[in-house]
Amino acid sequence: MSKILIKNIKGLVQAGEEIPNVKKGKEMSTLNIIENAFLALENGEVLAYGSMEEWEGILDWRGVEVVDADGCFVLPAFVDSHTHAVFAKTREEEFVDRIHGLSYEEIAAKGGGILNSARKLSEMSEDDLFEAAKKRIEKIIQSGTGALEIKSGYGLSVEGELKMLRVIKRLKGYAPIAIKATFLGAHAFPQAYKANKRGYIDLILQEMLPKIAEEKLADYIDVFCERNYFSVEEMEEILKAGQAHGLKPKVHVNQFSILGGVQKAVELGAISVDHLEEMDENDLLALQQSNTIPTLLPGCSHFLSIPYGDARRIINAGLPLALASDFNPGSSPNYDLMTILSLACIKQKMTPEEGINALTINAAAALELSESHGKIALGRRSPILLTKEIPSLAYLAYAFGEQHVQRIFL
Ligand code: NIG
Ligand code: FE
Repeated sequence: MSKILIKNIKGLVQAGEEIPNVKKGKEMSTLNIIENAFLALENGEVLAYGSMEEWEGILDWRGVEVVDADGCFVLPAFVDSHTHAVFAKTREEEFVDRIHGLSYEEIAAKGGGILNSARKLSEMSEDDLFEAAKKRIEKIIQSGTGALEIKSGYGLSVEGELKMLRVIKRLKGYAPIAIKATFLGAHAFPQAYKANKRGYIDLILQEMLPKIAEEKLADYIDVFCERNYFSVEEMEEILKAGQAHGLKPKVHVNQFSILGGVQKAVELGAISVDHLEEMDENDLLALQQSNTIPTLLPGCSHFLSIPYGDARRIINAGLPLALASDFNPGSSPNYDLMTILSLACIKQKMTPEEGINALTINAAAALELSESHGKIALGRRSPILLTKEIPSLAYLAYAFGEQHVQRIFL
C-alpha cells in the first residue's frame, strides 16, 4: 500500500469532478486550478484533493509519504497522442542534407526518409528494437508524458510491420503508462512496389490486416495521405478495410498539400486528423460537423521548417485542438511535450492555458483515454506530474528548454 500526500501545491491544475472530456474553442482558454492545494493518492488512485484549509482530518495519514510541493504546480501528466517512437536508427545524415539545402520531399524522392528508416528497421531484430524503445520510453516518462500512442510504418513489409507491432505490444506489457498501437502500413510505398502500388495495397489488405487483427496488435489504423504517398481514394480503401478488422482511423493528412483527406477521414469517423500544416475552409467545415479531434504537431514544423498548423483558426472556429510530439527520426526527433507547449505558444499563438488543455484533456480524447487521463478527479488513476518550483504556470511555456518536471507519479 503506498499512500502519498502532496501538500502546499501552488496550483493543482485540471482537478475537478465536472471538467468536460473535450474542450472546444473558447473553453480551451480556461483551466480549473485550485490554489494552495493538496492531493492525496493511494496506490496511484486519487483519494482526495482540495485546498490546504480543507485537508486536515479528512483522512488517516499514518504511514504516508508526504511531498511538500511549495512553489510547485501539479498537473495530470501529458498525453502524447501521435508518435513513431519505435524505430531502428536516428537520421542525422538527412538533417545535415537539409542544412545543405535539400528538402524533406527531395530526400524522400532519393530513397531517404521513411524508406531509409524501413531499410534500417529490416536489419534490426525484434529484441533489439524492443530494448531501444524501452530506453526511449523511460526518458519519455521522465519528461512528463503519462500515455503514449505509437505507430508502426517503418516496416513496410508483412514481417516488418508485424515486428514493429509486436514490439509495441511488448511495450504495452512492460511500460508503466498506457500505450495505444496504430497500424501505419500505408506510411510510404516500399521501393519494390513503386511501380506496383496496387500490389502493396493488396499486401496491406490481404496479408497484414488479417494477421494484425488475429494477434490483436493494433487499436487504430493510419494512412499518410499526401502527394507521392497515398491518395484520398487509397486512404479510404485502407481505412475501411481497417475498420472491418475493428481498427479505428487516426490519420496523417494535410502535411504538405490539401487533397480532401480531412473530409474523407471525418466522413469515416476518424478519431483524429493529424498534421494540418495546410488547411482550408472545407476542412474546418467538415471538422465542425464531427467529433474528430484536429491535432497539430509543431515539433515537425520546427524541425522541417515548414508552416505551422493554424491553431488560432482552429480554435476560433470553435473546434477542439490537441497537440502531440510526432516523435520520429525523420521529421521530429523530440518527444518532450514541454517543448511542444513552448512551440505552440511561441509559433502558433496559443495561450499556455490552451496549450495545456491541448496536451491533457484533448490529447486524452484523441487517444480515447478520457476516462483515465487528462484530468484529476476522485477515484481516477491518472498519472500525475509535479513541476519544479516555478513562478507561474505560463513559465512552463515561457522558459523553453528548461527542465520543469520534478517527479511523475504513476
Ligand atoms: O508524421 N509524415 C509522415 N510521417 C512522419 C515522418 C516520418 C519520417 O520521416 O520518418 C511524420 O512526420
Ligand atoms: Fe507522424
